[in-house]
Amino acid sequence: MHKNQIYQKSLKDLNTFSINVTAKKIIFVRTIKSLIDICKKCDLSNIPYIILGEGSNVLFLENYKGIVIINRIKGIKVKEKKNFWLLHVLSGEKWNDLVKYTLRMGFFGLENLALIPGCLGSAAIQNIGAYGLELKNVCQYVDIISLKNSKIIRIEKDLCKFSYRDSIFKYKYRKGYAVLAVGIKILKKWNPIIFKSFFKNISITKTNPYQIYNNICQIRKKKLPNINKLGNAGSFFKNPIISKKDAKKILSLYMNVPHYFQIDGSVKISAAWLIEKYDFNNIKIGGAAIYKKQKLILINRKKAKPKEILKLAKTIQESILKKFKIWLEPEIDFINSSGKIKLLKNIY
Ligand code: FAD
Ligand code: EPU
Repeated sequence: MHKNQIYQKSLKDLNTFSINVTAKKIIFVRTIKSLIDICKKCDLSNIPYIILGEGSNVLFLENYKGIVIINRIKGIKVKEKKNFWLLHVLSGEKWNDLVKYTLRMGFFGLENLALIPGCLGSAAIQNIGAYGLELKNVCQYVDIISLKNSKIIRIEKDLCKFSYRDSIFKYKYRKGYAVLAVGIKILKKWNPIIFKSFFKNISITKTNPYQIYNNICQIRKKKLPNINKLGNAGSFFKNPIISKKDAKKILSLYMNVPHYFQIDGSVKISAAWLIEKYDFNNIKIGGAAIYKKQKLILINRKKAKPKEILKLAKTIQESILKKFKIWLEPEIDFINSSGKIKLLKNIY
């Protein structure tokens, strides 16, 4: 057996939703060469494959008939420039390990993105964000590799088309490419991002990055379920972004819906608030439920089947549409027996 290969039947411990499905084979890769070799072999024998980091943003809908490649290609290189450090981070590094590493090194600026599960690769694809910071604010470039001809292409940040939980890697480079590395630029002059509503007891002049990191960890530990104890994939839906005109209508009916104005004039509405306001009355569908402390998170409370989670999601979407005239788009990726699929309104 190749040293990178681990044969394992179930994917249960490799997706944070803890869905008990299987794959034909599960292979952990630690080098770029083995990633390319495996993908080429799969292509030659017409076997589907999918690359995962920590499986914290996916829902497997059924057993996967191909090979699941778990990316553990790791390494961090640091270059010092006059006003900033440039970190070249390989895509199998865990995001929060990077945040902790930067704090140890005295490179400050990632602390608002503390404790987000997952690896660097998907952090870029997803443009992860929390507490006023998004990956796009610290990303300098993303290196991708063509799995057909092994060519490495550097996409500079301005061409990554980063937006809310979105990037070019979800479209143009979705098939036949893997994210290999992310360039993270950290300014030497630290600019703390402090949202008054989140950090009530913090003074902007007296705080330090460690305090912000610890505060965010505390907030997240209180609010979000522990993935080692309760299956979930973070926010199941995105916060909807609606036109100013539609936002005016909603706000005239529900004055206290949390909302955030976007640069282009559109308005982001809190989906968790909409779900809470609808009051699903402790709804449970089989093993699937809404997390009590954060209503945007769907949980696998007891051996949930993917269909039960989907049915709950659909119930939420349809109810919110009926009451608020807003369609909630899923944030997570869905994977069926042969690969990623888009779940359109009418094909659930
Ligand atoms: P995976 O789930 O393994 O993969 C996600 C997608 O990316 C899949 O389609 C996969 O095929 C693809 N992919 C993965 N790696 C590669 C690669 N190298 N090349 C090509 N394709 C690849 N997200 C936020 O933005 N903010 C939060 O605050 C946040 N909080 C969370 C809290 C909890 C408790 C949980 C469970 C999730 C949270 N998330 C959050 C969502 C999730 O952590 C992020 O989306 C994360 O970036 C996913 O990383 P992953 O490695 O687990 O991705
Ligand atoms: N709220 C409710 N009910 C709830 C939860 C929240 O009414 O059950 C209201 C509260 O008024 C709260 C506001 O919604 O102040 C915002 O809630 P929260 O701070 O939890 O943020 P969110 O919009 O629900 C987003 C991200 C999270 C990220 C947090 C913090 C999305 C889809 N989710 O959640 O990211 O951690 O902000 O910045 O944008 C993820 O992407 O998986 C994720 C967890």
